[in-house]
Amino acid sequence: MSKQVTKSKDGLSASGLLDIALKMAGLEETPPDSGVIVEGQNIKKVLFGVDMDTPELLLARELGFDCVISHHPRVTNTKMLSILEEANINKLYALGVPKNRSQKLVQARRAELSYNEHVANSRRSESAAKLLNMPFISLHNPTDLIAERVVQEFLDSKFKGNDSVKVGDIVDALEEIAEYKNSERKPVIRVGSKESYAGKIVVNMAGLTGPGHKVLEEYFKAGAGTLVLMHIPEADVKKVQEQNIGNVVVAGHTSSDSVGINKVIREWEKHGIEVTVMSGVVSDIMPKEEAGEKSDKAKAETKGEKAKGDTKGEKAKAEKSKK
Ligand SMILES: [Fe+2]
Ligand SMILES: [Fe+2]
Repeated sequence: MSKQVTKSKDGLSASGLLDIALKMAGLEETPPDSGVIVEGQNIKKVLFGVDMDTPELLLARELGFDCVISHHPRVTNTKMLSILEEANINKLYALGVPKNRSQKLVQARRAELSYNEHVANSRRSESAAKLLNMPFISLHNPTDLIAERVVQEFLDSKFKGNDSVKVGDIVDALEEIAEYKNSERKPVIRVGSKESYAGKIVVNMAGLTGPGHKVLEEYFKAGAGTLVLMHIPEADVKKVQEQNIGNVVVAGHTSSDSVGINKVIREWEKHGIEVTVMSGVVSDIMPKEEAGEKSDKAKAETKGEKAKGDTKGEKAKAEKSKK
């Protein structure tokens, strides 16, 4: 993909930025939790955060950015919950669960979530961006799909051929990914212990939100041993503990969001786009003491990132020190 990249001195349109993310995620259509809210042309300076609302839109205008991107959905699309349904039906199907069976369970969860979805004032930030005429993109599922893929592939290759992996090994391994290393909120075991056998590791990060304990139980019944999630409520943890069948590792919320976000940012940078991160995006640059032992190639890459001006790294540091 990167071979066809041509740097554009005129920048990209908001749709152009979105298209690159869709392509990286392997999506042919824009999912209903994402989209261009306010179109823009010749975008060169982007401000990207996990939650971007009216204050951040004003900040972007004040600081001279051409476009704002919010990871958490800011679009108004009543079809959004279909992501939860499709993602979990497909993931369970891959584990051998018939679609007719998983659909019943997932639809019950969808019905629960529909109450909050129906009440939400989704126009709030959208209307502010329109009044300000600030190009604004909602980019959720594509970067979560990338994060899910990256973390699954990392753990698969890390533990390939090892049938005695313990849950503690997963938590330790996750910190080899810069976003988890750099996050203040470390990966934690929510169900099981360090000594629990991990079994089949299934990363579930791209289903809009948590699928609830009944759907989680179905993953375990279908053969998953440990689920790696972005987050899980305490009530679901208690239910999964009662099920006494599998383990749950919470990798971290905004850190997991950042894994996908940073991959897309690196691709946009190849097109000459300058991206500044805020509002919860964690840096993808490994701290120096960890990077010290890396291969020459990795060292060169780390150096390359510094040479680019390290706008993102410095901003992330400033963001971190503010907390
Ligand atoms: Fe996310
Ligand atoms: Fe999130």
